[in-house]
Amino acid sequence: MSKQFDVIVIGAGPGGYIAAIRAAQLGMQVACIDEWKNDNGGPAPGGTCTNVGCIPSKALLQSSEHFEHATKHFAEHGISTGKVTMDVATMIGRKDTVVKQNNDGILYLFKKNKVSFFHGRGAFSKAVEGGYEIKVEGAASETLVGKQVIVATGSNARALPGVAFDEVNVLSNDGALRVGAVPKKLGVIGSGVIGLEMGSVWRRLGADVTILEGLPTFLGAVDEQIAKEAKKAFDKQGLKIELGVKIGDIKSAKKGVSIAYTNAKGEAQTLQVDKLIVSIGRVPNTIGLNTEAVGLQLDERGAIVVDADCKTNLPGVWAVGDVVRGPMLAHKAEEEGVAVAERIAGQHGHVNFNTIPWVIYTSPEIAWVGRTEQQLKADGVKYKAGTFPFLANGRARALGDTTGMVKFLADAATDEILGVHIVGPMASELISEAVVAMEFKASAEDIARICHAHPSLSEATKEAALAVDKRTLNF
Ligand code: FAD
Ligand code: NAI
Repeated sequence: MSKQFDVIVIGAGPGGYIAAIRAAQLGMQVACIDEWKNDNGGPAPGGTCTNVGCIPSKALLQSSEHFEHATKHFAEHGISTGKVTMDVATMIGRKDTVVKQNNDGILYLFKKNKVSFFHGRGAFSKAVEGGYEIKVEGAASETLVGKQVIVATGSNARALPGVAFDEVNVLSNDGALRVGAVPKKLGVIGSGVIGLEMGSVWRRLGADVTILEGLPTFLGAVDEQIAKEAKKAFDKQGLKIELGVKIGDIKSAKKGVSIAYTNAKGEAQTLQVDKLIVSIGRVPNTIGLNTEAVGLQLDERGAIVVDADCKTNLPGVWAVGDVVRGPMLAHKAEEEGVAVAERIAGQHGHVNFNTIPWVIYTSPEIAWVGRTEQQLKADGVKYKAGTFPFLANGRARALGDTTGMVKFLADAATDEILGVHIVGPMASELISEAVVAMEFKASAEDIARICHAHPSLSEATKEAALAVDKRTLNF
């Protein structure tokens, strides 16, 4: 006998588990299927984000930042310690505990919201009268029927052709998050978000890190001025980033990995490292979903084709998150999950793709929302720019972290905020004010007129807004 549901969600990453909870809140009978296993073979909902992405990477970034503070910055505060050491096993153990707390939290939320959770792989079996039959293969086999199906099966790391991840020498994000000891030499291919975050973790702990990037520009999607400032800071830290390289043969042996490449000048080079992280983007995941059984349409990248509302080519089948177009971000997946649940319930779910914030959790952090200066130029928009350096912010001086700036871009005629770009301390938190402002179509002057607490980093945001009209008070 098959079990009947109003909604079946396949995948319990941020897109799927949030969609399941929202659908249940709206009074629907909901099933959520996820196959991720913890080390004991038990369920580990939360997807890439919780298990091998956002959460564990931020746990390691935090530990490594503490280590760097203790070894390099405590003395400035008059604090002396004995020799500071890092026990990598404890750091990784703490990270695993943080991950488990999040897995358990999601299982609790499923119970609280009466979402039926199935641990196993979900696959389309066939379309049936008024819905779809989904088979679950796990500890037990189940057959479920859902009137509506939300696919949230996420993404996997992209491998270089012919170079498989062995997670010992050649690491994806998964292996990069559980290296057992600090490698002496670490190579990274791709200076995108993962390369910079994971490269920072292991550099702070003492690894000699070289990042090889194919493109000639650093962080091409980031506002140029901000990317330049970030690059300066990374150079100072000793994070070596080589741009414009062409990767050749990669050989992995017991003693490490050798990477042949051509540098930007066209010279042949070889990099010998103990471990290599390959972080060259991610590919949508529909493995084992049996999309052919129902004719679910995929594009040439393997992403499920959806419209702006996350509707697929099949009636009653929706898809959200990394498995569809758009930025591969946890909060984007969540927003789509909520919007789809609300649309199924007959409400007007909405995602504003123009105000999705991006954050890179390096030190300094990089965060932005809206368009960059180069995008505005390309779009032929007349704009005004205002910047304010953290060097002139009292709280940043007290923190001992004055790298970077806040930058506002506003429409030249209406003063509407078109983009806000931050590189510096706590940029991840500061960006929220800009997101709220842009959602409410605020002008730069609106922010300039709001009282910001003193001393706080957020005063740099107000000052950058003032700078749009060339009237900063503290610079
Ligand atoms: P996923 O999180 O990938 O979840 C998909 C789930 O579906 C998985 O649990 C998978 O096991 C399950 N599944 C797949 N197929 C099936 C099937 N057939 N049956 C059953 N279950 C199935 N984003 C941010 O916004 N902020 C960050 O700081 C950040 N840091 C990151 C760091 C790293 C190292 C990585 C790799 C990614 C990071 N991301 C970050 C991106 C973020 O993790 C993804 O955008 C997000 O997880 C996408 O959510 P999702 O629900 O679409 O898919
Ligand atoms: P990415 O797209 O951020 O960066 C990949 C980099 O690799 C690019 O700079 C690209 O030019 C380069 N590249 C591609 N092919 C190459 C090749 N053959 N040789 C040399 N360089 C090459 O992808 P990344 O870092 O793998 O992360 C995947 C995604 O995960 C991100 O795009 C993001 O959506 C998400 N993520 C988000 C985080 C956050 O929000 N803080 C943190 C980590 C990941």
